[in-house]
Amino acid sequence: MTDAAASEQPRHAPTLLAVDAAGMLCIGGVPASLLAERHGTPLYAIDAALVRTRVAEVRAILPAGMRLHYAVKANPLPELLSLLAKLVDGFDIASLGELQAAVAAGKTGRDLGFAGPAKRDVELQAALDCGAVVNVESAGELARLSALAATGAQRGHAAIRVNPDFELRHSGMRMGGGAQAFGIDAEHVPSILKSWPDTIDFEGFHVYAGSQNLSGTQIAAALHKTYELCRDLAHHAPCPPALINLGGGFGIPYFAGDTRLDLAPIRTALHDIAASARQHLPGTTVLLELGRYLVGEAGVFLTRVIDRKTSRGETFLLCDGGMHNHLAASGNFGQVLRRDYPVWLARDPHAPAIETVNVCGPLCTPLDVLGRQVALPRAEVGDLIAIGQSGAYGASASPSAFLSHPQAGQVLV
Ligand SMILES: Cc1ncc(COP(=O)(O)O)c(C=O)c1O
Repeated sequence: MTDAAASEQPRHAPTLLAVDAAGMLCIGGVPASLLAERHGTPLYAIDAALVRTRVAEVRAILPAGMRLHYAVKANPLPELLSLLAKLVDGFDIASLGELQAAVAAGKTGRDLGFAGPAKRDVELQAALDCGAVVNVESAGELARLSALAATGAQRGHAAIRVNPDFELRHSGMRMGGGAQAFGIDAEHVPSILKSWPDTIDFEGFHVYAGSQNLSGTQIAAALHKTYELCRDLAHHAPCPPALINLGGGFGIPYFAGDTRLDLAPIRTALHDIAASARQHLPGTTVLLELGRYLVGEAGVFLTRVIDRKTSRGETFLLCDGGMHNHLAASGNFGQVLRRDYPVWLARDPHAPAIETVNVCGPLCTPLDVLGRQVALPRAEVGDLIAIGQSGAYGASASPSAFLSHPQAGQVLV
């Protein structure tokens, strides 16, 4: 490729690539080589300081009194949850396992919102036991929760997860609008509110329209619509809503050509919403729930080159970590077109690229690719390859049992 053609190629958004005096990539101030030596590879390393920075950045755009929750599904690493428990107001959980992890990290009661279709009775009971707010996803689920509450000592706490009649446009994954497994269609909510069960405290509304959106204006528009929908539905409620969970969907720039999310329009929308809520819903707390935006950019996946070979003119770096550790970076976690996360040679991420390589894992499937035709400095056997933007939907979103290779380690630095 000519220099001119290369400079026209879309690039990854700049990231905070820290290196030590020798040029080695550092995560949380610790050289990748040292982390790999201490913890082995493949390894996820999460930079705690960057998580703190992202949380502070979001806090800075929230109006006073608006709450920030972390979606545990993005990364349930216990050390990370303990850190985040101190930084955010609550956790969004989606299973009994996440509930237990959240409680172990120090969050309980109404600081927990439990969303997710097909909650089992044992999960509803655990939510009752710890006083979590269940975001009910169907009339049947509400009936099961109320039957469990009726036989026990505790009152239940539930919000209605509403499936809105609009979509979060430009999001990577949509969970709202049209026919959905998630939530109760907005038009059916008034009748459910009319016959709200006595054993359950009505807590409010939860709307989660979609994920991985890089358009601040689209998110701002969706937040407005979501708030207005909840405000309208509140007229049908047995009591004023204690909370309105507006969701989030804040995306991060994974791929070449992606640009960072502009928080400015979101800030304006949230301040408008807060002003309206003060007037129309004075007792209601508004909250956002974010996953990847808080932790995604803080994580680096490190994998070691086990073999290097050429096949019919293409160079392959064959590594000890692959799609079984990091399904999302292999392009098999909801991507329509496979694209590469940022890929670096950890030994010298700033060195000029001199070759084009395929970075592959150890699995016997052509899907096990972490970088296809990526430009890198020359990497040798034993080198570490680093994949950026890997702090969310990494190990816990990967088929780690496939082919019985070792699981990736995870460390918060
Ligand atoms: C209900 C709910 N809340 C929060 C999230 C977190 O999304 P993200 O990590 O994109 O912020 C998801 C993602 O699927 C979700 O389904």
